[in-house]
Amino acid sequence: MRVDVALVPQEIEGKNFEDITAIVIDVLRAGTCIANAVANGCDGVIPTVSVEEAMDISRAYARDDYLLCGERKNEKIDGFDLGNSPLEFTEDRVKDKKLIMTTTNGTRAIRTAKTAPDVIVGEFWNLSACCELAVTLGRDILIICAGQNGRFAMEDAVCAGGFASKLDGLTNARLEETDGCRTARLLYETFRNRLGEALSQSSHGRNLAKAGFGEDVKVAARIDCVDVVPIFHGGHIVAMDISRSAGVRA
Ligand code: MLT
Repeated sequence: MRVDVALVPQEIEGKNFEDITAIVIDVLRAGTCIANAVANGCDGVIPTVSVEEAMDISRAYARDDYLLCGERKNEKIDGFDLGNSPLEFTEDRVKDKKLIMTTTNGTRAIRTAKTAPDVIVGEFWNLSACCELAVTLGRDILIICAGQNGRFAMEDAVCAGGFASKLDGLTNARLEETDGCRTARLLYETFRNRLGEALSQSSHGRNLAKAGFGEDVKVAARIDCVDVVPIFHGGHIVAMDISRSAGVRA
C-alpha cells in the first residue's frame, strides 16, 4: 500500500483521485469540529467554499433543520449559529441537524478531494478509527493537509505523520512511503509524546491562542477520543462507525 502526504493542498491540484482513499486533515480546527459533530449525531455536514454558497444551500432546508457554522479570520461569521470551536458542537446543539459549514482552509480542502471514491475527515480525535477504515478499504492512501492559506501548517503535518505511523502498524506489508509521508512521520516522531506542545507552538495555534481560542488548541491534541469516521460522499459528510471486532458498518 502506498501512502502519500500532500503537505499543502496545492500539491494535489488537478490530481486524479480515481483509485485513492483520501484522508483530509485540518486539526485546527475544522476537522476536529466535524469529528465532534458527527460523533454527536448531527445529520451530516455540508462543506462549502464560501459564505454565499453556505447561505444558498441553507435555503433548501427548513430553519429548524440546519445550523450554519464556520469561521472567517478565526471568528464566527455574522448571522451564523456556530463558529469553529470543537467543543461548541455538542449533542445538544447538533443532534439531528444538518450542518452547513464554511471555513477558510478545511472545508475547501475536503471539497478539493471530492472525486476520490472515499474522502475521510481524519484528525487526532479519530485517528485509529480512520486508519482502520482506510486499511479495510484496501486502496492507496493520500493524506491531504489543509494547511493555512496555502502554506504549510505544522499541526496538520504532525497529525499526518501520526496517521502514517498508525497505518504502518496496521498493515502486514511494508508501506510504500513518499517523501511527504516520511517527512510527516519524522515530525510526528519528534512530537509524539508532546502533541499539545506541537499544536500550541504552531503559528496557527499561537494565533488562535492570541484570539482567545487557546482551549480549542488544547483539546484538538486529544487522541482517539471518538470512534467515528466522517466520510464525504455526494456533498455530505456523514458518520461511518467502525467496530474494531466486527469490521465496517455503515
Ligand atoms: C480553517 O479551516 O482554516 C480552520 O479551521 C481555521 C480555524 O481555526 O478556525
